[in-house]
Amino acid sequence: MTKYLSLAIIISIIFGSCTPATETNTISDKTISYKVDSLMSLMTLAEKIGQTNMFNGTWEFTGPIPADNSSQEKAEQIKNGMVGAMINVLSAKATREAQKMAVENSRLGIPLLFGYDVIHGYKTMLPVPLAQAASWSEDAARQGAEIAAREAASAGQHWTFSPMIDVSRDARWGRIMESAGEDPYLSSVMARAWVQGYQGKSLADPVSIAACAKHFAAYGFAEAGRDYNTVDISDQTLYNVVFPPFKAASDAGVATFMNAFNEINGVPATGSTFLQRDILKGAWGFEGFMVSDWGSIGEMVTHGFARDNKHAAELAMNAGSDMDMESRAYERELEGLITEGKVDIVALDDAVKRILKLKYALGLFEDPYRYCDEQREKETLLAVENLQGAREIARKTMVLFKNENNILPLSKEVKSVAVIGQLAGSKDIPLGNWRGQAVTNSAVSLLEGVQSAVSDQSKVAFAEGYILSTGTRDFIHELDIQPGDESGFAEAIRLAKSSEVVIMAVGEDCFQTGEGRSQADIALKGNQQQLLMEVLKVNKNVIVVLMNGRPLAIPEVMDQAPAIIEAWFAGSEAGNAIADVIFGDYNPSGKLPVSFPHHVGQEPLHYDRKNTGRPVTNDFDSGLVFWSHYTDAPTESLLPFGFGLSYSTFEYSNFSVTPKEKGATVTVDVTNSSKIDGTETVQVYVRDVVATVTQPVKRLVDFQQMEVSAGETRKVTFDLSEEDFGFYHKNYDFYAEDGVFDVMIGGNSRDLQSIGVTLSF
Ligand code: NOJ
Repeated sequence: MTKYLSLAIIISIIFGSCTPATETNTISDKTISYKVDSLMSLMTLAEKIGQTNMFNGTWEFTGPIPADNSSQEKAEQIKNGMVGAMINVLSAKATREAQKMAVENSRLGIPLLFGYDVIHGYKTMLPVPLAQAASWSEDAARQGAEIAAREAASAGQHWTFSPMIDVSRDARWGRIMESAGEDPYLSSVMARAWVQGYQGKSLADPVSIAACAKHFAAYGFAEAGRDYNTVDISDQTLYNVVFPPFKAASDAGVATFMNAFNEINGVPATGSTFLQRDILKGAWGFEGFMVSDWGSIGEMVTHGFARDNKHAAELAMNAGSDMDMESRAYERELEGLITEGKVDIVALDDAVKRILKLKYALGLFEDPYRYCDEQREKETLLAVENLQGAREIARKTMVLFKNENNILPLSKEVKSVAVIGQLAGSKDIPLGNWRGQAVTNSAVSLLEGVQSAVSDQSKVAFAEGYILSTGTRDFIHELDIQPGDESGFAEAIRLAKSSEVVIMAVGEDCFQTGEGRSQADIALKGNQQQLLMEVLKVNKNVIVVLMNGRPLAIPEVMDQAPAIIEAWFAGSEAGNAIADVIFGDYNPSGKLPVSFPHHVGQEPLHYDRKNTGRPVTNDFDSGLVFWSHYTDAPTESLLPFGFGLSYSTFEYSNFSVTPKEKGATVTVDVTNSSKIDGTETVQVYVRDVVATVTQPVKRLVDFQQMEVSAGETRKVTFDLSEEDFGFYHKNYDFYAEDGVFDVMIGGNSRDLQSIGVTLSF
């Protein structure tokens, strides 16, 4: 029996509100609002503050509470209703135990919210987010998030701290791996798909979870790509590059936002009224709540913005940061601040209302244990259909960089294959960083994928060759990158020499990317490249498989290897998905969501640059130096944004742009001139040639992905509106300016046909 008859239930009876969770449950639902108001009228100040407080689940919850003071204190707080949410309480059983503590002991029995970093899967790992963006497929991204949500929900989770939709243009930044890459439009498309995938049709559906758009804002613009570093950014870039994916997530109904560790133009994002109140909750009308990043309220003291934790709590709450993750600033300081009149009770009430709305929308007041079903958890985690889905999604994320003489796809009847490289044998690295509850060494390795794909007669042999990393490879610790042990070279070269084909994996350890994993250099580490060059000397048929979570500077590999597949960290089914591409069960369709440089010194690198007064002309013949370029490295990318080959070839013809009222209609014919069916992603870019604020030389405004059968021609039409031609001006004012525009079309951001048109709006 519960200790108290829950007042929430009394309220339900009084207001007749005990309706079952329905398909229409959203945080903007009016009836939810009434329920929350009723509940709040019964809450004490302390109970309200409790809702804004998030704790880390520091013990297992499935056993006794540890005797240490901190655990005992936390348990007391939960029982007293002083905790609104918890992070890292994992499993149906643990969440049930923690939920019981709150619901059965606290005066009002308000359920806890359980959140976790489900970044690209809970137990079944999907490709890392940057890879998912390389699919350029909303369906793939949505399906991935659905799988992640289904598994996480079965393990008691209500809420994921995903998607991370920080536009990321600096390959040195380790967290680029968690993003959708460099482009605001593609990132917006992915943001919407991920939110829809996690949240499903209704938050009340127990297989969906609440999403969290993070990190608001501009975290990806950390100076020099160094994580947590200062961000100094213009309004133009903020409005037109950083904000769009967040606006898209808000429009898609994302339940929560997370602010960021970084300062932005001198104000920590966590304390920014402009970001949280003016833009998010004001201009965009966002009705969910804002959670701080881990300790980011307290870190405002370290930033030199707040005097102490109390001052930090005041600044954060007043700025619109609704929930405190692990700073313990709200829990300890808000009561005093409200009594002293430094924080208005209206601000706290607004925060609490937003938090409670989500709990109602998730159906937690009807049944706080609806996500705590151990049987469901058992059936759902690593279910065959989840793994199958992960494989299908993963193969859509692979990008074909090079395929000289159509060496790919390989025949499954191949006589002998040498699989080379530590990465090729690893069952762990493909799982990626931020790997949820994935089991160590549980991925299908590239070696295993190749072994299961080829015929019984084919001989597959493996040599590790190089050692890239050793030691404890985990989320918390530094990685042990090896400088250059050559003891495995001889065997690898011998195998390469005696095999018909070589499949060699090079790239990164997965823990080279992720939070706190910035690098000053993005070339291949250790002696991988050295071995690859030796292998290329003894065998002409070398397929290079890249595994990495950021763009790499690999001009020599691009130059020398006959075939290259970008496989990223492809998740639990990595090896199978890569083999699907290598042996032609899947015709590659991925396109780069981020530019690859020749050299790290080109970073941050993005295709949508400005022209400058001294544009990049590549006119080296003139002998003049006074134009924008590097004298010791190329200025253009090694591989442009949007790039990706297929086993098919596509030709573009009959491109036309017809002006219409406030926009233009664009058409083009796409012909598959090969003998194999394929998928092409047709990309449209626009340039406003003369504007009151200079505009990028091109920026993606739309794309369509379509299957084109061998020999078929498909007409593609795009309807471009003012939204595609305009941009945010001063004061967040959006409109298009009359004048001349270049409209460009093609299969990547470099190889484009262009037509100039004059438009008025
Ligand atoms: C810090 C990270 O910046 C954020 O993305 C993550 O969700 C939190 N830690 C919680 O783990």
